[in-house]
Amino acid sequence: RFVPVSVKQLAEEGAPLPEKFLKKGSECPTTAHTDFCKEIPVISFEGLDTASGRQRILSEVGRACAEWGIFQIVDHGVPENLMKRMMDNGLAFFNLPLEEKIKYASPPGSFPVGYLSASGIHRNDNDTLGWREVMAQVSLPKDIREIHYSSWPQNPADYKKTLVEYSDTIDQLVTCMLGLISESLGLPSDYIKNVSGGEKMGQKIAFNYYPHCPQSDLALGLKSHTDHGTITVIQQDQVGGLQVYKEDRDKWGTVEPIPGALVINLGDQIQILSNGRYCSVEHQAVVNSSQSRVSIATFAKPELMSRMGPAPELLSETSPARYRNITFKDYLPICFAMKTKKNYDALII
Ligand code: SIN
Ligand code: FE2
Repeated sequence: RFVPVSVKQLAEEGAPLPEKFLKKGSECPTTAHTDFCKEIPVISFEGLDTASGRQRILSEVGRACAEWGIFQIVDHGVPENLMKRMMDNGLAFFNLPLEEKIKYASPPGSFPVGYLSASGIHRNDNDTLGWREVMAQVSLPKDIREIHYSSWPQNPADYKKTLVEYSDTIDQLVTCMLGLISESLGLPSDYIKNVSGGEKMGQKIAFNYYPHCPQSDLALGLKSHTDHGTITVIQQDQVGGLQVYKEDRDKWGTVEPIPGALVINLGDQIQILSNGRYCSVEHQAVVNSSQSRVSIATFAKPELMSRMGPAPELLSETSPARYRNITFKDYLPICFAMKTKKNYDALII
């Protein structure tokens, strides 16, 4: 069995960081985990079931998608108690002894599910490592969940049950978000979900644990990237560390933790489908020297054979396609090779 180095153990030992964690040059973090960017939109979903409420939310979502590609939502209806149970389970899992966690480890180079420690984002051998431990599971579509279910952690006792409940609840939220994003582009509300495979859409839930780090100015929890799928829903604790980069600000900004809020992050598919009207934002996770941090990222992805090109309805003579068509299956190797700074640059016409 493959035995990973536990970043949590390294943090507890407090020794200087092994060389392979040290970032160089422009990869080094420049903005503190508490340097919050107040401009990142926060949208209340209160009143979504009324005509005027929905209109307000649609216009706020449209603006946030175009200007930021990332925003927070509050009053979204995901039960507080479910969010708390997820956080508690995630933390309890990472606090298990390493012997217990590595029962769920996947060997390097395999599909990244299960327990991973110190993973680089694309697991390229020359890449520096991330100051993070991950426990990730494939949770949708349902037939695939059933296959994976037996390999999910048995400990803590209600881990699996809570994960199923969270998976279904976030899936409903994703369907609602995709409806709003579609409508804000002037498309029918089921448009994005339909072109992404409908009920066959994929979902992966990753618990991230970023231990405190003695050299937080030279390491990253997760290096800069864009998400390759449809959208990502992130629940985070109150420490802070998720950062976004917008070219027009030329500065990393930290997403401010808000109790009960969820972060919505657009993936490459939305940027491509919207023909660049909406953006898949570059983001990273920084660490800090005093506190560990937990986040839970739920990735919604198109079914493998879905076509990822710009929606024909959004194209015209004055607004020609900026990206070529590709299936999600053929897009994945491009993302894993990451030859361009942003994955979708490989599709520019
Ligand atoms: C990510 O999934 O890109 C980072 C999530 C986070 O830790 O905030
Ligand atoms: Fe991400």
